[in-house]
Amino acid sequence: MDGFGYLGPYALEWFNMLVRWLHIITGIAWIGASFYFVWLDNTIRPPAPGSELARKGVAGELWAVHGGGFYNPQKYLVAPAELPRELHWFKWEAYSTWISGFALLVIVYYLNAQAMMVDRSVADLTSWQAVGIGLASLVIGWIVYDLLCRSPLGKHDLAFGLTIFAFLVLSSYVLTHLLSGRAAYLHVGAMIGTMMVANVAMLIIPGQRKMINAMLAGDKPDPIHGIKAKQRSVHNNYFTLPVLFIMISNHYAMTYRHEYSWAVLGVIMAAGVLIRHFFNLRHKGRVEWKYPVAGVALLAILAFAIAPKAPVQVKAQAEGGATEDDAARFAQVRTIIDQRCVSCHAQHPTQPGFATAPGGVMLHTPELVSQNAQRIYQQTVQMKAMPLANLTNMTDAERAQVGAWFEAGAKTGQP
Ligand code: HEC
Repeated sequence: MDGFGYLGPYALEWFNMLVRWLHIITGIAWIGASFYFVWLDNTIRPPAPGSELARKGVAGELWAVHGGGFYNPQKYLVAPAELPRELHWFKWEAYSTWISGFALLVIVYYLNAQAMMVDRSVADLTSWQAVGIGLASLVIGWIVYDLLCRSPLGKHDLAFGLTIFAFLVLSSYVLTHLLSGRAAYLHVGAMIGTMMVANVAMLIIPGQRKMINAMLAGDKPDPIHGIKAKQRSVHNNYFTLPVLFIMISNHYAMTYRHEYSWAVLGVIMAAGVLIRHFFNLRHKGRVEWKYPVAGVALLAILAFAIAPKAPVQVKAQAEGGATEDDAARFAQVRTIIDQRCVSCHAQHPTQPGFATAPGGVMLHTPELVSQNAQRIYQQTVQMKAMPLANLTNMTDAERAQVGAWFEAGAKTGQP
């Protein structure tokens, strides 16, 4: 972005906005289509034996009404006798989601690795090391997952599911011990997203191609391609809820900043899978409330477990108006904020890579500090989410000073 001069960070902000917009649109198209086909698969019913449909090779069908018309999808297993003239494929939804997601990873994280990926209280990495770890996680994730699918374990759904879950929790553990919490979370999500898209690109689509080539050559298509594709598509289905949480996790410092953030992520992913399982069974006509109840219970237990501790009560200040003490205390706090926060949180941030005040939070005047006292306290004392990745090296003593000031009423010393 150097070629843009002082407008570089601003230009990057625009790329960020447009690519994120695109990523959400393509992601909705992909996951929406995928949910729809899983629903179809779970909802179709076999035609009456000996009926004309059964003779044509239809394995299941259903009727639906939508947008003022009636639809009658039919599923052929393994394939219809003749290849239809026009056949629709579903792949660009997945590919464009990955491409835009990867671009976003580069724009948000890799081009600003010191601020967004490195947390020196976790590991003192260079930007290149952090980016290398991020990229490696995507590749290693796919290799491990693909090998597991091809191993004998791949035939046992539950055992496979538990193994891949354990692998993802282990990955969160390793990544949260190398990168900042938000980058670690996001890379677990990118790992899963990469597995999902690679399933489409390397297994599902090539398998479908082989089936069609066999039919064009006048042979019977081998059902193994369909079976393998189905396995990957079921995995993708269970991955969706965890991945979607991770993509919004950056808004919730209470998760990724927690001391055991890797375990927090594990619990949330498990809840997502349980809830997804409920819907998959329900489409098949089985309503098993124990799954969503277990999922919600996990989230409730987690909410209690990670709740912030009650603030330590500081000796109450003398009642009444402002004192000289208050003024002195506020002056100290302002010095801390000036040193540790204002490089990012100002009208014109001086921190490289920041065009505008992040989150719209500005702290460069006494009035702004006073107005934002609650949020400052929450972010720096309760959650320790700020300064971002502690880039400006705020000390624990300084956090304690800010805490004491807020707990004593966040006074400014002005009458
Ligand atoms: C390196 C840049 C940087 C520094 C330094 C920094 N912040 Fe932030 N801050 C951010 C970013 C980026 C966000 C947006 C976070 C997000 O999107 O979740 C943010 C968000 C915030 C928010 C809004 C959070 C919310 O979710 O409502 C507050 C409050 C905040 N910072 C306070 C502070 C305070 C106080 C300091 C100093 C102790 C500080 N920040 C230092 C980058 C920084």
